[in-house]
Amino acid sequence: MAVLALLDALDLKGFLLFLFAFLLIADYIRNRNPPNYPPGPFTLPFLGNVFNVDAKQPHIYLSKLASVYGDVFSLRLGRDKVVFVNSYKMVKEALVTQAENFADRPYSPMASRIYSGNAGLFFSNGHKWKKQRRFALSTLKNFGVGRNTLELVICEECRFLQEEMESQKGNAFDPASLFNNAVSNIICQLVFGRRFEYSDHAFQTMLRAISEAIYLEGSIWAQLYEAFPAIIKHLPGPHNTIFKNYKDVCSFIRGDLEKHKENLDPSDPKDYIDSFLIEMKENPHDYADGFNEENLILNTMDLFLAGTETTSTTLLWAMVFMIKNPEIQEKVQAEIDRVIGQSRQPSMADKANMPYTNAVIHEIQRMGNIVPLNGLRMAEKDTTLGGYFIPKGTALMTILYSVLFDKNEWETPDNFNPGHFLDENGKFVRREAFMPFSAGKRVCLGEQLARMELFLFFTSLLQKFSFSTEEGTELSVQGAVGTTHIPHPFKMFAKTR
Ligand code: HEM
Repeated sequence: MAVLALLDALDLKGFLLFLFAFLLIADYIRNRNPPNYPPGPFTLPFLGNVFNVDAKQPHIYLSKLASVYGDVFSLRLGRDKVVFVNSYKMVKEALVTQAENFADRPYSPMASRIYSGNAGLFFSNGHKWKKQRRFALSTLKNFGVGRNTLELVICEECRFLQEEMESQKGNAFDPASLFNNAVSNIICQLVFGRRFEYSDHAFQTMLRAISEAIYLEGSIWAQLYEAFPAIIKHLPGPHNTIFKNYKDVCSFIRGDLEKHKENLDPSDPKDYIDSFLIEMKENPHDYADGFNEENLILNTMDLFLAGTETTSTTLLWAMVFMIKNPEIQEKVQAEIDRVIGQSRQPSMADKANMPYTNAVIHEIQRMGNIVPLNGLRMAEKDTTLGGYFIPKGTALMTILYSVLFDKNEWETPDNFNPGHFLDENGKFVRREAFMPFSAGKRVCLGEQLARMELFLFFTSLLQKFSFSTEEGTELSVQGAVGTTHIPHPFKMFAKTR
């Protein structure tokens, strides 16, 4: 009654004003920071800082903020507050020293819609994540990651890739889809037990759909969806493409799963899907362990997505840096000729004898900076970081770009310099600030696989070809940023050596 009386007394304008003031106060109370919370720029009511972040080069914008507010600072992106962590020292403190505190991922409206809750490998948390991560790691190992069996598979794919490049007959071509297909075939062998021809149109279309989704996930549309899901989900826009593309990938995997079920021989698992189906059948599991078909599809999707785009993008950067630095390309080729020669394919055993090539690959990964921001983490309990209070449940973003380009760690952070990974005698040296795979509990699950792929693909390509681009074309080292940092499309020549 009291409310009705109040409404009677106010005209519509007054009511709207009252409502606005009410929402403003509610927004202020909900988003008030606790004492000693990390500082950050002024936030607008309701919107926070969602429109401040430069969507084109967010990592550079965020690192600039660190020079104003310090290495631990905060932003409000719509509904969510995020603490950002900058520099090698502080990122290591968060991911390694406080590994237990920051092992989980926070709630994401977009991931929750794609994965229907706590599922998959990338976005799951707790008991299910631990079980599934362990199972995936041991299964990949069983199928040859870190061993000679997988090396043979990668070497065979290198030959297919070389043949395809030779068939360009010295004409300029865009290597992006070729690299994507070649690299994807390695994870496809591991999870589906088969590879796809470079001429397979349906597979190429799916790879393009994945690249598009990964790119769009870093766009302002995805940020708006994360910030205001209740509104944005009803609007048309590129965010809908993300959901559609992932649905298509899941349908593809579901089709393949059915074939695996028909042909399953429990005494002879041929890939990750077989192994998972056998585990479901033969070992009793709680539902909470995640051994069910829906989770199998989502895990497979994660392995497939994470195992394709990242490594093929790194190979694209390898081409960009080799073309821009022909003297470094020649030094790598000289080492290949000295250690391997031209009569056999490279093998992982060669790596220990090829410090210069190894250093160049590391420098490509550092400068390529393909995951500039990292996956979001969440504080499992109240803690402190850099002297600031981080309440339980706070989302934490470690800026990997700030580690790979940290002025206190790298002699010439902005220049391509393989010397970062060589001592005065030309021996390879590990650098702690080399963190393209992140660190801590959620460090990239495919690191070992990616390292094998990068070494074998890179050395095989430079053993066979010299790479260059059209006269007068200057390739840019500033790529496009979605979830990954990819070179702008370019054409190159692969001249047989
Ligand atoms: C050059 C290649 C690669 C790079 C730079 C890379 C980088 C990363 C990064 C930065 C993360 C986030 C880690 C975190 O949140 O702290 C990640 C996670 C992950 N990566 Fe990779 N990755 C690469 C290749 C691969 C490959 C080949 C696979 C396939 C097996 C893979 C599978 C995954 C998975 C499943 C996760 C989620 C791990 C978890 O949350 O427990 N990655 N990767």
